[in-house]
Amino acid sequence: MRPLTLTLCLAAAVFTAGCAKKEAAKEQGATGTVTKQEFGKTAQGQPVDLYILKNRNGVEAAITNYGATVVRLQTPDAKGTLADIALGFDNLQGYLGEEPYFGAIVGRYGNRIAKGKFTLNGKQYTLAKNNGENALHGGLQGFDKKVWAAQAETKPEGQVLTLKYRSADGEEGYPGNLDVTVTYTLTGDNDLRIDYRATTDRDTVVNLTNHTYFNLAGQGKGDILGQQIAINASRFTPVDAGLIPTGELREVAGTPFDFRNPKAIGKDIGAADEQLKLGKGYDHNFVLDRRDEGLAPAAKVIEPATGRVLEVWTTEPAVQFYTGNFLDGTIKGKGGVAYQQRYGFCLETQHYPDSPNHPAFPSTVLRPGQEYQTTTVWKFRTEGAN
Ligand code: GLA
Repeated sequence: MRPLTLTLCLAAAVFTAGCAKKEAAKEQGATGTVTKQEFGKTAQGQPVDLYILKNRNGVEAAITNYGATVVRLQTPDAKGTLADIALGFDNLQGYLGEEPYFGAIVGRYGNRIAKGKFTLNGKQYTLAKNNGENALHGGLQGFDKKVWAAQAETKPEGQVLTLKYRSADGEEGYPGNLDVTVTYTLTGDNDLRIDYRATTDRDTVVNLTNHTYFNLAGQGKGDILGQQIAINASRFTPVDAGLIPTGELREVAGTPFDFRNPKAIGKDIGAADEQLKLGKGYDHNFVLDRRDEGLAPAAKVIEPATGRVLEVWTTEPAVQFYTGNFLDGTIKGKGGVAYQQRYGFCLETQHYPDSPNHPAFPSTVLRPGQEYQTTTVWKFRTEGAN
């Protein structure tokens, strides 16, 4: 009975709690909605949609199947007022041009690979150099520029959007056909959970993440320097001038990279520190302090004026903390607001950058028969009303 009802619900462009309610009134996911809207067409005329997941508290995650991109995140402040905390564009057009991965899923290899080269099983692979002399975020046409197959449904655990993409053998220079599934689940507890899965038919490397730029005061509402962040990391990977890890794991203690206790993002960002100069701010991979391989807290950000809190939990070993250093006001985002430097921060949960060239780093190799499986959860919370 149940699968049939869900299928019927899916057939409608808008399917609300109604369908699921009859099935299981007590299931928390049953009190939200999933709406599908047209979002535009790619340059090749391919139609793209926007899926709006809304939970029982009015929290909303709008996600397009272009790049599996988070377009909008409406979350409450301590008084219950909703605001959109994700940078991005009002329509597809904005995402089609040059833009710094707002909200997108990046892959096949998120972050950098030195000189666009790596060796696997004794064979050297060459990637496009799209970031100085290095490869960044999957190449010229990474997963952020692909139209994904999408299916939305209301499930007991929440509003669920499942996105699939097959990256062909040789695409952007990577070996193996890679079948990728990214599932976004908005729960009744204001969590947005992202599950990443992938399988391959040849040995390859994989490092998937989401590149949302957050501003907990609301997107376009100034810089994020006053927001307080704690990162659960005792070490980070220092970089060279091309932002490639040197291989060292450096203690954060006594450096501007110590976020083990909450600290305003802007507190030390201007410090006379070689690493901050190289990154033009924070653009570094923090090695998470973990006890095991399960879902564990990675970072927590508090916006003091609104009381909005973002907690990031992940199964990944690291997180790239990036403070929007390359934003310079030339990009006009939602509502025509010019996104200036430091108007957003990213917390890209990941394996370390350039892992394929660092045998000592946790491996990013995926082989046939294995499943790439990672999870990151964004918990939208509030504390201390103002
Ligand atoms: C990542 C990188 C940054 C920058 C942004 C996109 O976060 O680490 O250096 O390239 O993507 O602008």
